[in-house]
Order: sequence, then structure tokens, then C-alpha cells
Amino acid sequence: MPYRLTVIGTGYLGITHASCMADLGFDVLGLDIDADKVRRLNSGELPIHEPGLEPVLRRGLDSGRLRFTTSYEEAAAFGDVHFVCVGTPQKRGEYAADVSYMDSAIESLAPHLDRECLVVGKSTVPVGTAERLADLLARLAPAGVEVELAWNPEFLREGYAVEDTLKPDRIVIGVRSERAEKMLREVYQPLGDIPMVVTDFATSELVKTAANAFLATKISFINAMAEVCEAAHADVTQLSKALSYDDRIGGRFLNAGLGFGGGCLPKDIRAFMARAGELGADQALTFLREVDAINMRRRARMVDLARELAGGSFHGCTVGVLGAAFKPNSDDIRDSPALDVAVTIGAQGGQVTVYDPIALGNARKAHPELHYGESALEAVRGAHVVLLLTEWPEFVDLDPEELGKVVAARRIVDGRNALNTETWRSAGWHYRALGRP
Ligand code: UGA
Repeated sequence: MPYRLTVIGTGYLGITHASCMADLGFDVLGLDIDADKVRRLNSGELPIHEPGLEPVLRRGLDSGRLRFTTSYEEAAAFGDVHFVCVGTPQKRGEYAADVSYMDSAIESLAPHLDRECLVVGKSTVPVGTAERLADLLARLAPAGVEVELAWNPEFLREGYAVEDTLKPDRIVIGVRSERAEKMLREVYQPLGDIPMVVTDFATSELVKTAANAFLATKISFINAMAEVCEAAHADVTQLSKALSYDDRIGGRFLNAGLGFGGGCLPKDIRAFMARAGELGADQALTFLREVDAINMRRRARMVDLARELAGGSFHGCTVGVLGAAFKPNSDDIRDSPALDVAVTIGAQGGQVTVYDPIALGNARKAHPELHYGESALEAVRGAHVVLLLTEWPEFVDLDPEELGKVVAARRIVDGRNALNTETWRSAGWHYRALGRP
């Protein structure tokens, strides 16, 4: 009999993991403490925007292999392997991660466990958390029940979550026993021949934070080069292209622009620094402070460029903002550079109208003080300055002539180096971009 799986926490990670595992043939029970979310999921409604996920969710529900509950008792009775996928956000006013949802999940599940099982942490956590949670689990699980913890970080990207889950480039597991390794190998066996790194708890936790720290560093590296390019009248897009031909460097995550945001990279590098500090290894990660600072400076630079184009002040100026999501193909606005810039310009007196193909609803809820348009054309109507802040394909394909007819002035800042400079300039636009002359 294949293992029965539970997935605790139904955010981007949990919904995707639960749906994909059901698609691979496992019986899966998803759990969330949000009853409304559970109801929506059980009726096949996706509470997030994730391309390609809804059909997988529905297939799971229709096959009878997937359903969702709010009951830990039911989850404990159901599962051989419990995946914990709850959020670990940044603590308010601190760099450190808030792992309290992780603790609550274990505290709620453990007392109900009355049969042999494996509890697997997937969330991104500060190194050392798995060891602490393993103790907590051992303390709270009823005596005599064979219950054990393993760690299995997740590397999926929003927008490509299904693909990344079904075709991961590696699987990393931190285990304390051969039994745990064997169980996880069996769970992932249907994925085929994926490179697997089997290691200890601490290393497996660190792989995840190190990977995100590296990606953030790569983006901030090219954005630092953009700053130098701006000072030296050089072009960072050509610089980046030339660097990318060196296989050792590679072109991915080397796009200069407004920098990184989202629910992972920014908070993960901060939590990593905080944890290194606790461990007495803070010096090793002081460079991440600079990575963070470079990233935040891009947002400030964007606001400065927009103000320059507006004639030195945003007062009396209408600004059309294209993009609210932290990246294309997502409705996620957590720490979105685009919204951050829009809000700052609004606070400095600009009349800002934002449009995003998918994230408009989330943006409206979070920032009711901004104006919103139902299309790109509506957002830029009457604008003195247009800002492209998230590189959705529909923005990249915009016709500068058509847009030019509705704006008050043909001025645009391309915050993602996504537009064709020549096309826009030859249509009479004053085109500026980050890191380019
Ligand atoms: C990131 C990692 O890429 C995943 O591997 C990881 O699993 C995930 O975090 C996580 O920890 O859960 P994600 O947050 O979905 O995934 O977004 P990315 O695709 O990494 O993009 C992050 C940000 O970097 C976006 O704001 C994007 O616009 C920006 N970016 C990316 C750049 O500014 N330049 C680039 O060249 C690439």
C-alpha cells in the first residue's frame, strides 16, 4: 500500500504539494485552520493565482484522492507521512523569522498521533529549528508510538510551482534514520530519477537559506553593476548579456531592474542574518546586509527617476503604474517592489493609478489609498509619467503609439529593462530605464 500523506498548511507551497502528490497517485489530506479556505479548496476553488495548479487540484478532488480538512485529529488518523508547509514570515520589527506556526502545527498534531508515522518539515526555517521540533514532537507524541521528524526543504518558484514540484532539479532530505530516508525515497519515487542529497537536519535547513541567499546576491550583484553603469553612462543590460555567456556566471537571475521582493527572498536573507548572529557567525553574512541595501536602493532610485521625469516634484503629477505583483505570473504582493514604489510616490504627493493583470484585488485590499485601473490603458490615461514595475508579458507587448494617445506626456521609466528602447523612443517617448544611459 502506498503511504497516505497529509499536507499541513495550504499556502502556495501546501496547495501545490498536496495537489501534485495526489496527481502522482497518493491519497492526500490537506489541512488548514482557515475553515473558509478549506471549504473553497474542497469545492475546487484556488485561493491563489498559480498557473496550471487549478486543473491539478480538481483532478485530485475528482479522483477522490485529495480532500481538505480543519481537523488535526482526522489528519493524525489518516497520515503515514505528514508534510508541514506552514508559513514562516518575518517577525514584526525584527529580522528573525516567526516560526510559531510551525510550533503550533506540531503541538496540534503530535498529541493525536497514535500510529507509526513520519513528520516532514518543508517550510523555510532558521537552522536548528528541526532539531528543536524533533524534541517537541518526541515530547508531545503519545508514549510508545513510533514518530519521527525529517526535513525536506522546498525550492519551488511561484508561477512555476507545479512544474517545479513534479520536475524538481534536486530533492534534499535531512534525516536521522534509515527508516525516514527509506520512507521519503518511496514518496518521491514516482518523480523518477531526481538527484537526491541525503544529509543531516542542519545541512538540509541551510541548503534552502543558502540557495535563496545566493539568488538574492546574484540579483543584487547585477543591480550594483546597474548603479555603476548609471554613474559611468554604461548599459547594464548589455553588460549582463556579455557576462551571461560565461557558463560559470550564467544569465539566469542576472536581470537588473527594480530588484527582488516576494514572500521569500527578502525575509529569508534577513532571517538568515539574524540566525547567524545568534550562532556567533554574523560576520559570515554581513555581505547580505549590503545585498538587502542594494535591493532597497533600487526602489529609491526608481522613485527618484520618476520624480525627475515629473519635473522635480510629484505634486500635481499623475503617475500610471503598470504592475503590482512582486513578479509576473503571480498575484502575490508580499514585499512587492512595484507596490512599494507606487505607495512611496503616492505619499510624496503623486496621483497614482495602478494596474496589474492578476494582483489588482490583493493590491486594492492592502492599499486602498491608491487608485486602480481595470486595464493598462486606463491606468496610464492622463499620466505625466508611466512606470513599468512588473514585467508581465502584456506590458512588454504594449503598443507605444496606442499608449501615447491617452497619456498626458510620453514619459516612461522601465523598471524591469523589459521594453524595446528603440520602439518606444521612435514613438516619441522619453524612455528611461534603471542602469542604462
Ligand atoms: C524564490 C526562489 O527562486 C525559489 O527557489 C524558492 O523556493 C522560493 O523563493 C521560496 O523560498 O519559497 P519566488 O519567491 O517565487 O522564488 O520568486 P523568484 O522567481 O525567485 O523571484 C524573486 C524576486 O526576484 C522577484 O521579485 C523577481 O522580480 C526578482 N528577480 C528575479 C530580479 O529582480 N531579477 C532577476 O534576474 C530574477
